[in-house]
Amino acid sequence: MSVYANTRRAIALSEATTLPQRYYASPKWFQRELEAIHLNMWLCAGRTRHIPHAGDYFVRQVGNANVIITRDEQGEIRAFHNVCRHRGTLLTNASEGRFNGRIQCPYHAWTYRLDGTLANAPHMEKVEGFCEADYPLNAVATAVWDGHIFINLSARPAPFAQHLAGLDEKFRPWRMQELQMVERRVYHLRANWKLIIQNYSECLHCPIVHPLLQKQSHYMSGENEPPRPTYLGGRMDLRDGVKSLTMDGSTSRCPLRGLSSEEQRHVYYYCLLPNFFLNLHPDYMLTFTLWPRSVDQTEIICEWHFHPDEICKPSFNPQDAIEFWDITNKQDWELSELAQQGISSKGYQPGPYSNREELLLALDRFVVERVERKTRTWANTHVDNFAD
Ligand code: FES
Ligand SMILES: [Fe+2]
Repeated sequence: MSVYANTRRAIALSEATTLPQRYYASPKWFQRELEAIHLNMWLCAGRTRHIPHAGDYFVRQVGNANVIITRDEQGEIRAFHNVCRHRGTLLTNASEGRFNGRIQCPYHAWTYRLDGTLANAPHMEKVEGFCEADYPLNAVATAVWDGHIFINLSARPAPFAQHLAGLDEKFRPWRMQELQMVERRVYHLRANWKLIIQNYSECLHCPIVHPLLQKQSHYMSGENEPPRPTYLGGRMDLRDGVKSLTMDGSTSRCPLRGLSSEEQRHVYYYCLLPNFFLNLHPDYMLTFTLWPRSVDQTEIICEWHFHPDEICKPSFNPQDAIEFWDITNKQDWELSELAQQGISSKGYQPGPYSNREELLLALDRFVVERVERKTRTWANTHVDNFAD
């Protein structure tokens, strides 16, 4: 294994360095991370309001898994592998849409109910012993937290409550379930997924990269929670007179119902590992889901959500918040891409962390430990061909 300090257990921040190059540049290592992390943990897939009616669906790709997230006739959120049980064809090629009461394979018309059970398999009636009940769609575990849909591709998912680790209690006052999306932007980054989390987890770059953000929230006003096994987060203060993060720091929207006057003075930034960023402002919620596509490419779905009482006002205009974050996002994405390029290049050597970068070391440890744990469970049946 590596001799680099941050791949050791119980490393102090003062002796930690960034991870070796292969963590950001090796396709083989990337595959290992996907299997140990993304195909094993709860991932935020989207919002329940995205699929309000039975049969509404959207699709998410995780590694080589293609997953349909839909709502059944009873209103339950369901997720299935987008793979027909006959000869394996993708059931839908669209990224979202509505099934008309049934999910029908486009190839030979095997037809499934919205709960995944097989309703009809043409030409199979004469096959001896064939029984529809034996061929439901392969289900993917789902859970819902305050309007956020999570999926888990593991055969034995960790309990969802363990994954949330109390965040549901902490953020209950925001009543996120009530909020409605008004804008979605999809960004395609040429950067490893970890670099995007690292960028999100420190604000030392804020005065240099984000002059607008710095004007409204001082970069040293932040206060991180101690890192947790499944999340990294903290909050920052709004400067005096600033009401929210918008183009000019003002807002005509009422604060979200249920927030204390203290909660209205901060913006909360939480990364629920490994793919969900939650930014909570006094008057709106911003969500990001990260979808690693390759070792150096990540797709990010970013959504702005507001309270319906505000949305229905004739004067409602979310552009001040959309523009603020679109500008800020693009500044972050550019830096993440530059980091990817530098780390992938010949001159890269791991560098030291400052004492305000403790969440980054926590992320490194999270990745190293998850992959090691997975490797140990494979040890008896797999040859480890991922050595340095
Ligand atoms: S592959 Fe789906 S019905 Fe044949
Ligand atoms: Fe940033």
